[in-house]
Amino acid sequence: MADSTAKLTMGAQDVDLSVRSGTLGPDVVDIGALYKKTGTFTYDPGFTSTASCESKITFIDGDEGVLLHRGYPIDQLAEQGDFLEVCYLLLYGELPTATQKQDFDYRVTRHTMVHEQMSRFFTGFRRDAHPMAVMCGCVGALSAFYHDSTDITDPHQRMVASMRMVAKMPTLAAMAYKYHIGQPFVYPKNDLDYASNFLHMCFAVPCEEYEPNPVLSRAMDRIFILHADHEQNASTSTVRLAGSSGANPFACIAAGIACLWGPAHGGANEAALNMLSEIGSVERIPEFVARAKDKDDPFRLMGFGHRVYKNYDPRAKIMQKTTHEVLGELGIKDDPLLDVAMELERIALTDDYFIEKKLYPNIDFYSGITLKALGFPTTMFTVLFALARTVGWIAQWSEMIEDPNQKIGRPRQLYTGSPQRDYVPMDKR
Ligand code: SDX
Repeated sequence: MADSTAKLTMGAQDVDLSVRSGTLGPDVVDIGALYKKTGTFTYDPGFTSTASCESKITFIDGDEGVLLHRGYPIDQLAEQGDFLEVCYLLLYGELPTATQKQDFDYRVTRHTMVHEQMSRFFTGFRRDAHPMAVMCGCVGALSAFYHDSTDITDPHQRMVASMRMVAKMPTLAAMAYKYHIGQPFVYPKNDLDYASNFLHMCFAVPCEEYEPNPVLSRAMDRIFILHADHEQNASTSTVRLAGSSGANPFACIAAGIACLWGPAHGGANEAALNMLSEIGSVERIPEFVARAKDKDDPFRLMGFGHRVYKNYDPRAKIMQKTTHEVLGELGIKDDPLLDVAMELERIALTDDYFIEKKLYPNIDFYSGITLKALGFPTTMFTVLFALARTVGWIAQWSEMIEDPNQKIGRPRQLYTGSPQRDYVPMDKR
């Protein structure tokens, strides 16, 4: 519904464009008819000023450091809820009742096994393959195993595919880890909660019983909540664009995993920890801060900055708290990486360059330290991000499919290449 209009004057032509207001956040100028009316495109590489869709799932206020999932603040969900509760909220739009939660947990738990043939799929990879490469392959391959949930026009099949994705990502992620380190796969256990089951599949070995630590399981669960969804970020936009062609949900999620892998996006947690290791000591921080400020040096402080948050990333605060809880539980008193991280944060938050550019730590800055303390190699960090983000991707994909105005995404361009010219025979070149 148009709430007001904006007037665009182009030469002698005045064009009225409808302006729509959402529940929260900036208004939007609907330019859907601009090309038809004016023969002109808008131009916004990187989509810094572009709303790609209407959504009811997640709201971010980058200036205020606000993140809401279906209206509920991330800190309340992380402190008071659990990951499957947040999954239900993202997928269905409301917090579950006790009965609904029990039923949802039951359904997810009983979808955690993967087709036994998937384990042979893994053996085609080198053991030293990056687990994200394995996840891209295996998740895309799910559409070769689950033909009964790829018809996107069938709401029931869409929900079955959604449940399968939420349930099987931990199993696939754990299998990618076990394959990477040369240990046997561990099957899921139905008597464990989601996070404990995942830690069990990662760290149990056939030779002895593995008892999940409830403090570490709670921390893992909270890390999943913090990564669950984040509006129209690069990987979510990738999933939406892939889904707009009618591709099956498993292929769309695989596309999201591929996009998330980039160090500017979900790959930043692995890059941030590698950066902290490279800095190595508090004494070397000024050298790296200087490099981050040098326009001629491509180096950036990984884990700092964000397209939307121009204030503190609310998830980073909760992540930092979780980091201290995990290190405390594990009796890790002085983690040199944590010392470097906290001093780097202190310096960056007082440095004029970072203040002027509004660069604050994002969720990836502290997550690596926590995941390393939990026992994961850096190569698994983005896999864990993908595991958690799968519910956000699939919720956004479902919303896109159910949108009556949905059509295939097909941006245009500003062409600055050669005008038309004739073919030149080889002997004339
Ligand atoms: C995630 O979109 C999401 O929601 C993503 C995410 C999610 O949950 O899905 O939140 C997850 O991807 C978090 C971001 C993780 N990435 C990193 O930590 C990598 C380091 N950060 C940068 O690469 C950068 O900050 C981005 C990619 C996150 C944001 O890039 P923008 O918005 O395009 O900003 P920019 O590159 O235009 O930077 C603005 C200015 C530039 O300087 P000028 O050209 O104006 O002179 O700030 C500088 C940049 O050079 N800058 C940095 C910096 N980040 C930006 N300088 C030093 N170190 C940095 N980290």
